[in-house]
Amino acid sequence: MNPRTPEHAIAVTGLRKTFGERTVLDGVDLHVPAGSVFALLGANGAGKTTTVRVLSTLLPFDAGEIEVAGHRLPSDARAVRADISVTGQYASVDKLLTGRENLVLMGVLHHLGRRTARVRADELLRRFDLVDAADRRADTYSGGMRRRLDLAMSLVARPTVLFLDEPTTGLDPRSRRDMWEMVRELVREGTTILLTTQYLDEADELADRIAVLDGGRIVAEGSSAELKRLVPGGHVELRLHDAAQLARASAALPDAGIDRGTMMLTIPTDGSIRSLKALLDRLDDPTLSVESFALHTPDLDDVFFALTGAGRKEAVR
Ligand SMILES: Nc1ncnc2c1ncn2[C@@H]1O[C@H](COP(=O)(O)OP(=O)(O)OP(=O)(O)O)[C@@H](O)[C@H]1O
Ligand SMILES: [Mg+2]
Repeated sequence: MNPRTPEHAIAVTGLRKTFGERTVLDGVDLHVPAGSVFALLGANGAGKTTTVRVLSTLLPFDAGEIEVAGHRLPSDARAVRADISVTGQYASVDKLLTGRENLVLMGVLHHLGRRTARVRADELLRRFDLVDAADRRADTYSGGMRRRLDLAMSLVARPTVLFLDEPTTGLDPRSRRDMWEMVRELVREGTTILLTTQYLDEADELADRIAVLDGGRIVAEGSSAELKRLVPGGHVELRLHDAAQLARASAALPDAGIDRGTMMLTIPTDGSIRSLKALLDRLDDPTLSVESFALHTPDLDDVFFALTGAGRKEAVR
């Protein structure tokens, strides 16, 4: 879809990855513009973590062309490793060390030198609101603190491309929002972020572009708005008082779906003020009493259900 150009921080064409007999990635194409947030969605087992592990040099792959931060894989794996960082689905924090020790150790592993590593650790402890807990062992941290420490550790070496595998799984709503704010700040500083998530609101909130992985391939890619346009439009649900009212309302609304069991009418709409006004005008009958009126506009959940074999919401009638 997108031609590979140097402004892509990640460019993947035809990526194949098998585990024994099993093909997990079967020709994946991804192009992530530099300085953007790209979200990879997919059901459990779709291959998100596998993709992240391949792109971050942790796993070999069977076929395809991969360029990360301007370096090719597998030939330039060292150069890729120098420019990227990964925060995995399973935290890499050493629980027996304190938060500060974890950060300093990471700095030393990245050849910062002990003094610079300490300065960087202090900086990150402040930024991630871990100063008070800095000298406590990480096994005394809450899940949210451990996640923050994990993210801080992946930033020690100032990566240009950051992979975040399910960065907010298990976080409370406030910690999720804090994490999102940190991601936005990193992007403002020029970092490119590829994240995987199970939370479609997270992709909606954070990602410039979103790709949906299913059956080993990318089945859709685009901005959140573009993806939402792929699924059937929104609808209005009206609940009427009784069968007689239902019949009268449905006579006024010929394209409405009708459910006599629940006394509901479902009317397709593009959600615009104009179409809603037209709908309400047709219902402007003093003898009709509408019990409830709900507008449903397609969200990423609808996109996900429509595009993946992950199951189906109650069919909209
Ligand atoms: N090392 C491995 N050996 C064999 N099979 C593997 C290995 N790693 C992953 N798989 C298989 O590859 C498939 C994709 O796994 P992966 O972890 O990439 O999925 P995921 O999209 O990250 O799922 P989740 O949402 O549950 O994290 C799964 O069927 C998994 O069992
Ligand atoms: Mg995973």
